[in-house]
Amino acid sequence: MIELRELTKTYKAGSNEVKALDGVSLTVDRADIFGVVGFSGAGKSTLIRCINLLERPDSGSVIIGGTDITAQTEKQLEKTRQKIGMIFQHFNLMRSKTVFENLALPLKYQKRSKRDIEIKVGEILNLVGLSDKRNNYPSQLSGGQKQRVAIARALANDPHILLSDESTSALDPQTTDSILELLQKLNKLLNLTIVIITHEMLVVKQICNKAAFMDKGRVVEQGDLFDMFSNPRTEATKKFTANAFDIEEVQKILRNIDIKSLTGENGKFLHLVFLGDGANDAHITKVARKFAVDISIIYGGIEIIQSRPIGNLFVVVQGTGDAVNAAIAHMRLTNTHVSVLSE
Ligand SMILES: Nc1ncnc2c1ncn2[C@@H]1O[C@H](COP(=O)(O)OP(=O)(O)O)[C@@H](O)[C@H]1O
Ligand SMILES: [Mg+2]
Repeated sequence: MIELRELTKTYKAGSNEVKALDGVSLTVDRADIFGVVGFSGAGKSTLIRCINLLERPDSGSVIIGGTDITAQTEKQLEKTRQKIGMIFQHFNLMRSKTVFENLALPLKYQKRSKRDIEIKVGEILNLVGLSDKRNNYPSQLSGGQKQRVAIARALANDPHILLSDESTSALDPQTTDSILELLQKLNKLLNLTIVIITHEMLVVKQICNKAAFMDKGRVVEQGDLFDMFSNPRTEATKKFTANAFDIEEVQKILRNIDIKSLTGENGKFLHLVFLGDGANDAHITKVARKFAVDISIIYGGIEIIQSRPIGNLFVVVQGTGDAVNAAIAHMRLTNTHVSVLSE
């Protein structure tokens, strides 16, 4: 559905140059909910604005549904853009117009008949659950309701793609949930391909099936979300996923503990990541028995990613040096990622 090839974009601000995009390639399939994550300044907004060419890349190509749109004329591009809806952090509604008028506007541009517009606006208001707000002004709506109006407006031209740039970042957690649920519903109901830009890992965790991680204008990792959470390969993604698991908080606490007093002479302090099903503690008990080591759990947590559990455990393993090493080797063979945090 979307293919970005080797995009570059450099901004010049006086004598300063910022490489906002530094050779970005990524592929989004039809009906994906694709998350683009990264810290502030990573280039996410620049990237998403390149998908509908609101921003022109300096080089590279943007291929939408098989067509290279960087080669399109303005007129062709206008048609392409109609099929790509976009929503933003601050909603961008017209304050002097009612909800109905905000939604009717993109349809008026299409020279649709009054009756047609009436029907379409009714449909999309119903879809986002705001039928009773059609004559209200944006100032009379809550943040969540405003974002629903913005989503409805983005749907007016029956887009194939919806781009979302931090659309939940100004909302409280509960409202964020309800907007994410709406996006998920639209994805299923309309087969809508959604690209979600966010600096909040929790948003990606909740609804994306795939993700790309951006760092300093580059995509450092992309693919299936579960794979990325269970086995992050770069420092940037490790930091991000650790954040979603609250591992950074745990590590902060652990820094204040005297690990040596826990591990003793031969013990090791480990971070274990378990994938998929299976009771983690039963697995731990078996390893302890099999290798005659003591395993104490210091901290444990389980996250559900795409309906599959990922368990994180911080443990101390004690026993003879050989037994501890054999236990670690065994765990590595049985679907567990083991990091040794202290010898
Ligand atoms: N219009 C612009 N002019 C100059 N610099 C810009 C412009 N837009 C973005 N930048 C710079 O490009 C980099 C990437 O910005 P952006 O794409 O907004 O990142 P993100 O959305 O990940 O926070 C930042 O260093 C930002 O300051
Ligand atoms: Mg941004």
